Amino acid sequence: MTAKIISGNKIAEEMRAEMKIEIEQLKSKHNLVPGLAVVLVGENPASVVYVRNKKKSCEEIGINSYEHKLPADTSEEKLLALVDKLNADDSVHGILVQLPLPKQIDENKVLNKIIPTKDVDGFHPFNVGRMLVGDPIFLPCTPHGVQQMLIRSGVKVEGSHVVIVGRSNIVGKPVAAILVQKAKGADATVTICHSRTKNLPAVTQLGDILIAAIGVPEFVKADMVREGAVVIDVGVNRVEDKTNPKGFKLVGDVDFEAVKAKASAISPVPGGVGPMTITMLLHNTIRAAKLKHNIA
Ligand code: GUN
Repeated sequence: MTAKIISGNKIAEEMRAEMKIEIEQLKSKHNLVPGLAVVLVGENPASVVYVRNKKKSCEEIGINSYEHKLPADTSEEKLLALVDKLNADDSVHGILVQLPLPKQIDENKVLNKIIPTKDVDGFHPFNVGRMLVGDPIFLPCTPHGVQQMLIRSGVKVEGSHVVIVGRSNIVGKPVAAILVQKAKGADATVTICHSRTKNLPAVTQLGDILIAAIGVPEFVKADMVREGAVVIDVGVNRVEDKTNPKGFKLVGDVDFEAVKAKASAISPVPGGVGPMTITMLLHNTIRAAKLKHNIA
């Protein structure tokens, strides 16, 4: 078997075209332009690229983007004060503080400071709770993007066994919380496995859908995948590549070539989950603007 490729690029493009039309209508009918503030502290190379892409994507579909770049030695107090200011700013509907933050800053303190109605990352404990009880305001972008990829590529999630490799707060845990809900595009049996799981390949083999989010380059090998499984690769890892002018290339958490021969469908890296994350951020920003102005 050679797998069908689940193109995040293509699905993201489709969704962004839909959102662009929605934004034009918000402008013409309600005189409303959604606004997203993105805060970057320091110059982590991956973060710099992410923030640049977020800004570009906002501009392409008509969302106002406000960038706040702070030096790496910014104090926690100063960052908290900026979040407060953005919380009170009516032109800002969504706030995103790019992670990771420098060591002198307590990440949880900052995430908890963002007012939940502007928390377009969905990381505030209030929004995590709403997600868990199945009544979300904002779903976290990467997990929601994974769900949209499955739905829009015609994968039946309902009743499937989804096995997730990785238990982070950003991907593993929330993707489980979303796909286990009694809801359309969910209703799955969910297993989370991690570094302490015994006999990991035997567990991952159970997955009709296998989601890799462990942060280790090409960790998922063909012998860990059931014949005909759907494989979603959330990993983005920079590995050295002397033939590339940048000196590195991006690979996922899945051994793509080997697994492609066994799976029925697989998402690539790059061009898989990556563009979906930003797409769902745009979706949440529109939602935040509509919520603020009581637009259905
Ligand atoms: N760093 C890596 N992924 C993310 C994300 O989804 N949101 C934020 N704020 N930071 C990140």
